[in-house]
Amino acid sequence: MIFEQIATGGCQSYLIGCADTCAGALIDPETSQVDRYLGLAARDGLRIRFVIDTHTHADHFSASRRLAERLGAMTVMHRASPAPGISMRVDDGESIVLGKLRLQVLHTPGHTADSMCLAGEDRVFTGDTLLIGGTGRTDLPSGDPEALYDSLFGKLLALDPALLVYPAHDYKGRSHSTIGAEIENNPRLQQRERAAFVQMMKSLDLSMPTHLTEALRTNMSGGKTVARLLAEAGATVPFMSLAELKSRVEIHEDDLIVLDVRERDAYEAAHIPGARLLPRGQLELRVNQDLPDPTRRILACCELGYISTLAASTLREMGFQHAVALDGGMKAWRESGYPTKAGREP
Ligand SMILES: [Fe+2]
Repeated sequence: MIFEQIATGGCQSYLIGCADTCAGALIDPETSQVDRYLGLAARDGLRIRFVIDTHTHADHFSASRRLAERLGAMTVMHRASPAPGISMRVDDGESIVLGKLRLQVLHTPGHTADSMCLAGEDRVFTGDTLLIGGTGRTDLPSGDPEALYDSLFGKLLALDPALLVYPAHDYKGRSHSTIGAEIENNPRLQQRERAAFVQMMKSLDLSMPTHLTEALRTNMSGGKTVARLLAEAGATVPFMSLAELKSRVEIHEDDLIVLDVRERDAYEAAHIPGARLLPRGQLELRVNQDLPDPTRRILACCELGYISTLAASTLREMGFQHAVALDGGMKAWRESGYPTKAGREP
């Protein structure tokens, strides 16, 4: 068996494969580690066939869809998952076959309704159902402490005590545990009576994970994170530095249109001398009237440099082939002491 554990902050993902046939799978991959997974799979000579999420994650951005597209692999989740476009939905009692390896699916709802554990010969990937010295929380969308009790005491903890436990999280740098060690030492598992366990889970009072809404939105829909949207726009446009623009403004360069895409009040408070106002929200609808010549060089600027990147990318998409974004924004422009003008332009 080929096996790699990849830790990212508190998140754990796994690469597992059959050494005889080179068939492999990734479990709970995270977007920031895409190059690492690809590198490890290549180094280990594995052909990734399955990219598996143990549940709908609320605390990290799943890379499953991207990796599956790139590798020609199947995305795998439990059949209760709300995510669209999953190529293989699985259920309790089924196995995912990796050459000579088998990963058996245990449906273990509780942390989420679509949580599952994957049991191999000597180890079990427990997702967020069972952590080292803890369990997944049950207070996020589709969480259910009663279901977690049944999944743990009725199913997962009944497995061979010698099985190695590899969870989806560990915040203390630990690699793994065993079912037996968890039964003995895990504080949450000492509440073996249903009502006491449920009461304990309901009174944990945990803070919400950062990026909760964005993680659920993107993981449940296959949509894009804000960071990815900005990165993709930034990869399609050139940028001009603040100093370069200043020198061009000072000589009143005629063939450059500076387009301020902020709202009117921000523009009238202070804008780059000669800049035109066209708020981002009106860009598509007013572009033909305000920018009749698509061959002009148009430089988009905004307060921080993000919205102007999106605006420049949209302009390029609409056929303004010389659209550019300011490398920075009006905030940095003002802080550099560069010239500004208040009110409207003639
Ligand atoms: Fe989770």
